[in-house]
Amino acid sequence: MAYALITGGGKGIGKAIAMELSAKGYNTLLISRTEEDLIDVCNTLEKTYSVKAHYFVADLSIEGIEDKILQWVQSLNIEIEILINNAGYGLSGYLENQDLASLKNMMHLNMVTLTAITYAFLPQLKKQKKSFILNIASTAAYQAIPGLSVYAATKSFVLSFSRSLKIELMNSTVSVTCISPGPTNTSFMERANLSERGLELVNKVHMQSEQVARVAIKALLAGKTEVVPGLKNKATSFLSWLLPKFLIERIAGKLIKNVL
Ligand SMILES: NC(=O)c1ccc[n+]([C@@H]2O[C@H](COP(=O)([O-])OP(=O)(O)OC[C@H]3O[C@@H](n4cnc5c(N)ncnc54)[C@H](OP(=O)(O)O)[C@@H]3O)[C@@H](O)[C@H]2O)c1
Repeated sequence: MAYALITGGGKGIGKAIAMELSAKGYNTLLISRTEEDLIDVCNTLEKTYSVKAHYFVADLSIEGIEDKILQWVQSLNIEIEILINNAGYGLSGYLENQDLASLKNMMHLNMVTLTAITYAFLPQLKKQKKSFILNIASTAAYQAIPGLSVYAATKSFVLSFSRSLKIELMNSTVSVTCISPGPTNTSFMERANLSERGLELVNKVHMQSEQVARVAIKALLAGKTEVVPGLKNKATSFLSWLLPKFLIERIAGKLIKNVL
């Protein structure tokens, strides 16, 4: 059966995507920084679904890491049919109060690594009869968000890049899908430095990572270009498109101020 490479497959949405794909019979290649998570997920996948699961421990925010990932996959004698660019994180706060090195690290992981891994694996994806790329953006991609300015911009990059790539690859065997989740029940929010109050508010509206993964894989295999999971998230993305930007971005800024 075919292999799917999932960045950030050790927990959260990436892990849920690994479960969803394994349930469909796909073998998986998982990458993250925490070996215990990866061992745990690989064992679960192999035992539950009788598929193969391999892992690679790497910090994907390191410059040139795509070469190491490609070498690892080649050393396994595997060619992937599905690439899931999921690893990413957010940092909240006003620009002047943030740590520049941390912002650069987030920008590198969310944008540079996503692009570089796609670039590195495109030749082998194009050789397959049918292959798929899934990029994880966010509802933050649909408008600027004061208080999440850099993170939101990285996710606008992911969405825009995905849309263009889909058209660039229109006459190839590779399909590109971008999913833009809203708040989801993962460790994302803790890493984003939200306040206790913010975490409580987000907990009231979040989706489960399994729900997001189900929508993502359905859209991926159906060859959809863009998908926003959940009715509330669909409605807010639609409003962002419909309403004047100055209005929607001021509202977004006020909402985020409440969770900082
Ligand atoms: N949760 C949300 O509310 C939400 C909403 C919209 C979009 N998203 C997007 O969904 C994607 C997945 O996030 P999540 O919510 O599932 O968060 P998560 O639970 O924190 O999972 C992130 C995964 O990426 C890995 N990762 C993070 N930094 C890494 C690095 N430098 N190198 C290698 N692996 C790294 C993590 O493992 P290690 O920490 O062990 O490395 C983990 O496996 C992200 O792109 C995020 O922006 C999340």
